[in-house]
Amino acid sequence: MPSQLFTPLTLGPVEFRNRVFIAPMCQYSVHERDGVPTDWHLVHLGSLASGGASLVITEATAVSPEGRISPQDTGLWNDEQEAAWAHIVAFLHERGAKAGIQLAHAGRKASTYAPWGQEGRHGTVPADEGGWRPVAPSAAPYPGYDTPEALDAAGIEKVVSDFRAAAERSIRAGFDVLEVHAAHGYLLHQFLSPLSNARDDEYGGALENRARLLVRVVDAVTDAVAGRAAVFVRFSATDWTPGGWTESDTATVAGWARDAGAVFFDVSSGGNAPAQIPVGAGYQVRFAHYVKSLAGVPTGAVGIINAAEQAEQIVASGQADAVLIAREALRDPHTPLRWARTLGVDGPAAAWQPQYERAKL
Ligand SMILES: Cc1cc2nc3c(=O)[nH]c(=O)nc-3n(C[C@H](O)[C@H](O)[C@H](O)COP(=O)(O)O)c2cc1C
Repeated sequence: MPSQLFTPLTLGPVEFRNRVFIAPMCQYSVHERDGVPTDWHLVHLGSLASGGASLVITEATAVSPEGRISPQDTGLWNDEQEAAWAHIVAFLHERGAKAGIQLAHAGRKASTYAPWGQEGRHGTVPADEGGWRPVAPSAAPYPGYDTPEALDAAGIEKVVSDFRAAAERSIRAGFDVLEVHAAHGYLLHQFLSPLSNARDDEYGGALENRARLLVRVVDAVTDAVAGRAAVFVRFSATDWTPGGWTESDTATVAGWARDAGAVFFDVSSGGNAPAQIPVGAGYQVRFAHYVKSLAGVPTGAVGIINAAEQAEQIVASGQADAVLIAREALRDPHTPLRWARTLGVDGPAAAWQPQYERAKL
């Protein structure tokens, strides 16, 4: 039986050489705090592209300064950032990989300390250390963080137009995939979940209202892309908390996002409330399967997918159309090519860089 994992996949206008994608991973490495990706990002993303993944997605990249998780995040709201991303995208393309950008706004989880180099400080970075007041659907803080300011109507319009402008810049920089980050408790997830959205206007209350901002963002991004790239959405399928966002909500809203132009759904979980999560091998695969079955949309599975046979089984059994890997790819950027060898795959779906060809056994 030929490998299904190492079979090309077409999503929207983009053909991927195989079904192993690199998941977005924050690097907190913009030391100048200007949102401009650095040599670190070129080497990090470039090595992942060399390792055989068909798609490399950047870290959560903010559509506005106030949308950054930390002051050290990458962004895409000005020309300098666009030019730096274009340089990185060209390198990924030369390696035969498609380039994806995760477009993000952190909402009430913005302006937080990066995980290292901050003398052990946690929580919200104050203004006198270069932080800012976060915005959110409601003035309800994530536990341990400062209280955000609730967005007014003009603030919501700015979020939509910031995503649109970043999408236009992404296209100019050459990205093939734009992933809208609606997971992990960041702004769009905060709107979706009743745990963080207490609004009484057309953006709060019923599911249709809580999903309105996400659907508007997907619509604006799709419009800006105009068929030149594939639009993905990353969801958290559940808040793992009673009264929170659920997998059934995710499947319903995935259908609406598909109608607005998204072609693929990257299904993660959690992040909007502290919760007990039963983490283990492939623990989120069932969510990708559920959303795929119920909404009838292509999905990606992510979360502790660390072995070739496991990844192959997920795709071959039809639970998901692709797998996304993060930490295993940090341990070994050549994970996709190593998996191809384990599965006995050779050829264009598992191409080594010519410089490394002699390492192929
Ligand atoms: C260093 C690191 C940074 C991450 N940053 C992001 C991010 O920017 N956006 C996002 O959606 N998920 C982020 N994640 C989550 C991963 O994309 C992925 O969903 C998670 O690590 C589970 O996959 P894994 O078991 O293969 O690591 C990050 C994970 C790691 C390890």
